[in-house]
Amino acid sequence: MTLRSSHWYSGDDRNAYIHRAWMRRGVPDSAFTGRPQIAIANTASDLTPCNAHLNEVAQSVKNGIYEAGGIPLELPVVSLGETNVRPTAMLWRNMAAMATEEMLRANPIDGVVLLGGCDKTIPSLLMAAASVDLPAVVVPGGPMLTGHFRGEALGCGTDVWRLSEEVRAGTLSEEMFLKSESSMIRSKGHCNTMGTASTMALVAEALGVVVPGVGGTPAPDARLLEAAHSTGALAVALVAEDRRPSTFLTKANFHNAIVALAAIGGSTNAVVHLLAIAGRLGIDLSIDDFDRIGAEVPLLVNLQPAGQYLMDDLFRAGGFLAVMREVRDLLDPAALTITGRPFVEYLDDARIWDADVITPRDTPLQPHAGISVLRGSLAPGGALIKPAAASPHLLKHRGRAVVFDSIEDFQTRVDDPDLDIDENSVMVLRGCGPKGYPGMPEVSNMPLPTKLLERGIRDIVRICDGRMSGTAYGTVVLHVTPEAAAGGPLALVRTGDWIELDVRDRRLDLDVPADELASRMPNQATVDGYANPRRGWERLYVDHVLQADRGADLDFLVGASGSEVTRESH
Ligand code: FES
Ligand code: MG
Repeated sequence: MTLRSSHWYSGDDRNAYIHRAWMRRGVPDSAFTGRPQIAIANTASDLTPCNAHLNEVAQSVKNGIYEAGGIPLELPVVSLGETNVRPTAMLWRNMAAMATEEMLRANPIDGVVLLGGCDKTIPSLLMAAASVDLPAVVVPGGPMLTGHFRGEALGCGTDVWRLSEEVRAGTLSEEMFLKSESSMIRSKGHCNTMGTASTMALVAEALGVVVPGVGGTPAPDARLLEAAHSTGALAVALVAEDRRPSTFLTKANFHNAIVALAAIGGSTNAVVHLLAIAGRLGIDLSIDDFDRIGAEVPLLVNLQPAGQYLMDDLFRAGGFLAVMREVRDLLDPAALTITGRPFVEYLDDARIWDADVITPRDTPLQPHAGISVLRGSLAPGGALIKPAAASPHLLKHRGRAVVFDSIEDFQTRVDDPDLDIDENSVMVLRGCGPKGYPGMPEVSNMPLPTKLLERGIRDIVRICDGRMSGTAYGTVVLHVTPEAAAGGPLALVRTGDWIELDVRDRRLDLDVPADELASRMPNQATVDGYANPRRGWERLYVDHVLQADRGADLDFLVGASGSEVTRESH
């Protein structure tokens, strides 16, 4: 076969000379005569602490590539650290995806190993790989080890929310709260709860783009480096077999990813990421598929935020494949993995070693764990709720709206003693969708007013056009589509309106007569809450971002361009 890179390196003309000469760096002649050039798209960065160790992982990948006869080429790509990047890492996911796609296409590369970890990094890499359609395989950077404080395990993210609410409720001192800070992040790796990073690593494995068995290996575990080494070697084989994303990723792969998402109790953020990846591949995936395929899947993983344990425990208890073995009959046996073998073939040897962490199918933590898709007059394009993370008594609820026009408006007024709110109220936050914020931040799990916390109330219904952290919990209706800034009815809700939520019937309605609603205009404070960036990426983003039900990708990035570039640089 003719390697793509040979279009740069083969021949005796001036251009081939240029491409080779600058790349010699001491490598042998054979580097330019038929050896696959494998990029390592590396999201390591000191500002993405969850991915900072990926340079070490990259070294093992390189060794594997060399051993299999390829040439490894490290390609640092845009890296997004969830905890630091403002205003939300999600604003930059599509930029990271676009930059990675273009750099893979622009360079003499035959295949790529994708190194990610922190929330947005694996999604952006997979969106890029799908659009450039070169052979690609992911090595997830792995979760960190469990940190402890005063004898108790601390879960990244989830326990930040929990402890900070305890401070507000007066049951934990501020001093103790701050002391716990240095215990939470115990080692290298990404968040160890079933947040977005853990979810995306496991869902990517179910999708078939991670070598089965690798996802969830803790970052400091020697087995991660071993897996990185063999995945590097696999990447060389992928080029010979021409196993590009478009050759094996079908709707069946996404079916398995959705079953996995439910069984592990994964983050709602996976919905937008999977929709965006499917959009790049031209696979017809909709939010309704998540409900149809996932709603009846049992929750089998007892991890925070829905449960008790952390990622290190899941790995010890048998790992992701042991979970998937329990729901094998729900998987599509036709879906192939990156290795060329069906995903289900990897389940035979999987075992549960700790049934407290991974519960067998006949004793699930919850019988129905999937994400429910709600529709109605408040969300004509759909909205999501994760019933497993909600309070059962609120899943059918009618209450009066308390409306906030922006996150700033919320922060200013939530603890106003005069705010007319009780446990039956429905908090509505708008202006937080892809366009309105922009970037769709993780603010939907609004903290409760202190006066309700002091009365022992821990959950009320919350509705928002934003996202929420995968580490959060509560009766939160999120990803309301269309968002307020895109003309959705959410913009027209007024404080005091009745709202009806019925998760069983999949309804979310604003109980305002249609003719009255039609005569309402969004008030000025609402409109002022929407972003209107003047220049740069934010302007491009607001002008082109699709709604959450299309994965919040940019309209001009949907689909694939392939890897061909015919023009020379000189
Ligand atoms: Fe990086 Fe949670 S902050 S995975
Ligand atoms: Mg997050």
